[in-house]
Amino acid sequence: MDSVKIKAIDREGVEHMIEAPVDMNLNLMEALKGSGLDVKATCGGMALCSTCHVYILTDHSLAEPTEDEEDMLDSAFLVEDNSRLGCQLRIESDMDGLVVQLAPDGD
Ligand code: FES
Repeated sequence: MDSVKIKAIDREGVEHMIEAPVDMNLNLMEALKGSGLDVKATCGGMALCSTCHVYILTDHSLAEPTEDEEDMLDSAFLVEDNSRLGCQLRIESDMDGLVVQLAPDGD
């Protein structure tokens, strides 16, 4: 499979189907941003800003968060058990059908 389909729900509740290539070493933040969703990604994907915070709405088994991601989520707003930093999730073929929701903007 060369690409995966991911459903992203924006902060207005609007659903967007995005297609992300699996062979370009992209992360979820880049895929969302590249599809026009409002993801600031202030730190550029370094797990330092949490503006790429998303909730994972499906039960896909994703890579465990690194210590850096967990530390950043510890200081983010409105963190839930299904919170992840989009920039720390590499697009993989087993992500097909994933549904994510953008976390509220902390501003
Ligand atoms: S882009 Fe800053 S933490 Fe993900």
